[in-house]
Amino acid sequence: MKRLIAPSILSANFNRLGEAIQTINQSEADFIHFDVMDGVFVPNISFGIPVIKDVNKIAKKPLDVHLMIVNPDKFIVPFAKAGASYLTVHYEACPHLHRTVQSIKEQNVKASVCLNPHTPVSLLEDIIAELDMVLLMSVNPGFGGQKFIENTYKKVTQLKELTERFNPNCLIEVDGGVNYETGKKLFEAGANVLVAGSFVFNAEDSIETIRNLKLL
Ligand code: DX5
Ligand code: ZN
Repeated sequence: MKRLIAPSILSANFNRLGEAIQTINQSEADFIHFDVMDGVFVPNISFGIPVIKDVNKIAKKPLDVHLMIVNPDKFIVPFAKAGASYLTVHYEACPHLHRTVQSIKEQNVKASVCLNPHTPVSLLEDIIAELDMVLLMSVNPGFGGQKFIENTYKKVTQLKELTERFNPNCLIEVDGGVNYETGKKLFEAGANVLVAGSFVFNAEDSIETIRNLKLL
């Protein structure tokens, strides 16, 4: 079973963003996770296309772009051009999710859908076969450093059952409050990709923390 780590640069020091990317490049991380926020879908604003475009010039890992924005359809092409390998849209922001997913795939980008903590896994039943990844939020999106919501373990188990039935290649990613304790239980429940922001970037040794997370 795949066990991948996606450090989120939301918790990096943006005065030294280049150094944070080099740290991820040198580590055993599998992706670089970007938390794009618009101040409408979530109560915070982070960064967008120009930042991702510049990071892509020096990144040695695939870019995993998490769009916490309304109307993501409008921005699929620019994010694809900026270098996204995976584009995640929120179920709650997409009234025509099937169309949105097809538009992502037309750009030769992997398509992923994210569920907020209150959104049931069962709602993915008729789209799961189309997806490369599902992202489960284990905190309410908008900020790094929040407390992990325990109900997420149950959702990972439910999603694992769904992917095994309809799309065994679909990755299960979890985002928010990941540390050694929650990370271990998430991998055991069937998660494939752990996003970790503050736990990696507040650590004394980020590279070692990433290595330890992979070995959980
Ligand atoms: C929250 C973001 C997360 C966040 C995770 O809206 O989607 O990716 O950066 O941060 P930590 O790991 O600190 O909970
Ligand atoms: Zn995220």
